[in-house]
Amino acid sequence: MKNRWEVGSQFDWSNDMVMLSAAKTLLPESYELFSTGTACLFSMATLLQQHQIHRLRLHIPSFLCMHFVAKLKTVFDVCWYRDLPTQESPDFNTLNTLPGDLVLAVNLFGIRQGKVWQDWLFQHDDIILIEDHTHDPFSSWAQQSTAHYAIASLRKTLPIPDGGIIWSPQNMKLPKASSSKSQAADKRLTAMLLKRAYLSGANISKDIFRQLEIESEEEFDDETNCVASTFTSVILSCLNIAKFRQLRETNIRHFLNWSLTEKHPNWMPLFSSWPISSVPFNSVIVCQSQDIRDNLRKYLIAQNIFPAIHWLQTTPDKSSNDPLAIELSNRILTIPTDQRYSLDDIARVAAKITDFFKQSGKLTYSLIGK
Ligand SMILES: Cc1ncc(COP(=O)(O)O)c(C=O)c1O
Repeated sequence: MKNRWEVGSQFDWSNDMVMLSAAKTLLPESYELFSTGTACLFSMATLLQQHQIHRLRLHIPSFLCMHFVAKLKTVFDVCWYRDLPTQESPDFNTLNTLPGDLVLAVNLFGIRQGKVWQDWLFQHDDIILIEDHTHDPFSSWAQQSTAHYAIASLRKTLPIPDGGIIWSPQNMKLPKASSSKSQAADKRLTAMLLKRAYLSGANISKDIFRQLEIESEEEFDDETNCVASTFTSVILSCLNIAKFRQLRETNIRHFLNWSLTEKHPNWMPLFSSWPISSVPFNSVIVCQSQDIRDNLRKYLIAQNIFPAIHWLQTTPDKSSNDPLAIELSNRILTIPTDQRYSLDDIARVAAKITDFFKQSGKLTYSLIGK
């Protein structure tokens, strides 16, 4: 069978990913696993709401996944503060808390340092700080956190069908996952296995596992409190997470080195450095205009490279209404360069980006020439 080549964000599953001998775990000493990252926050609300009559207020960054925000709004009164990945730290002047409020501090794209939040927390001892380490669950910030709580949607960076983790760096009481198992996780695992067979060259229609991915995501949306699947909780300790992080960082650095060798008038990398012991989420670029971003994305998809947009802000109800966040969300593009890919894959993606701009440059030139 001939392997199929594609680059995308949805993981497949292969037994090649498991370690044969135990390695030092990077997981916190004490934690609770849920099916999703959102379920961790929902169950936090249930735990903390016991002492409150009103809905809890949750402060969130103006640059965030709006689908995630829509779910948070069903449980919390959401307040926005300005936090953009183009800036080194949040704009704390826009973070106006009242005693008892919850604040979600997000390590956007895994390139942030925790020190500013530690300093802020020191001066605000009347709120509950929850850190979101989804983009790098094992950074030094995550490991040395001083927040009340920390969460991460593990399924965004690890090849598992479901999985959200919550721990308390301040050793506070953790919410408990209900014993109900996620049906969506079983469906997602089926999709991951079929995707592996498809990538290995099996005669399987892509539509079949794509449909399962979509349906499982919709079913995750309907869950409020499910424990992580047996597959995820068992396999987690068999994954060589340290190796995955090393591969991911090498790939991102490779992409970045390539992107910094020439001037690209139409795009630039979102970041070119990150803290020691951190690993960025992916290679992220910012195009000069929305048109360029959308056309580049279309071109890459036709080449079997599936870049994601983290994150769209469309209508006012699906937006933080922060003009800078909206502006960035129109031009940003995530190029998947995680642990699944080799340096050859990264070079191939880079060549396709170069091809796109060569072709669109020729087109512009010929249009001007007419
Ligand atoms: C930064 C961040 N945190 C948490 C979540 C929620 O994770 P899950 O989809 O597992 O509920 C998301 C989802 O998009 C996210 O982007």
